[in-house]
Amino acid sequence: MANLSINGKTLTIDVEPETPLLWAIRENVGLTGTKYGCGIAQCGSCTVHLDGVAVRSCGITVGEAAGKQITTIEGLAVGGTLHKVQQAWIDNDVPQCGYCQTGMIMAVAALLKDKPRPSDADIDEAITNICRCGTFQQVREAIHAAATAV
Ligand code: FES
Ligand code: FES
Repeated sequence: MANLSINGKTLTIDVEPETPLLWAIRENVGLTGTKYGCGIAQCGSCTVHLDGVAVRSCGITVGEAAGKQITTIEGLAVGGTLHKVQQAWIDNDVPQCGYCQTGMIMAVAALLKDKPRPSDADIDEAITNICRCGTFQQVREAIHAAATAV
């Protein structure tokens, strides 16, 4: 059994501590907005926040996440108001198939918390998520739009 704090709720779930956090989030908790892409911490589709830091949830265990605040895409909007990154994604028509986009949004939200006005170089360094649909230019434009949003 493990206690996980996800999106402000503490949940007791029946998993081994070495279970990848991604599996627990999707299979045990049922939050399927976090996507499985590669399973080897390369693509970024499974990105969540751990104490506000973007992490690839396929690459860390439930045991490592226990005691930390986990935020998934389902918990990013607060009080029914979209996060400014989510709004910028809509305004800039970023998604194509959408599969990579929840992880992309989580990575960008963490970037803007650390660097409210990131340069293109900052974006290139921080956002290494893979999008098979090739939305990288739209992602970049939406990041700059979110950075200047009030
Ligand atoms: S599924 Fe976790 S990084 Fe690809
Ligand atoms: S929008 Fe399709 S993989 Fe990124």
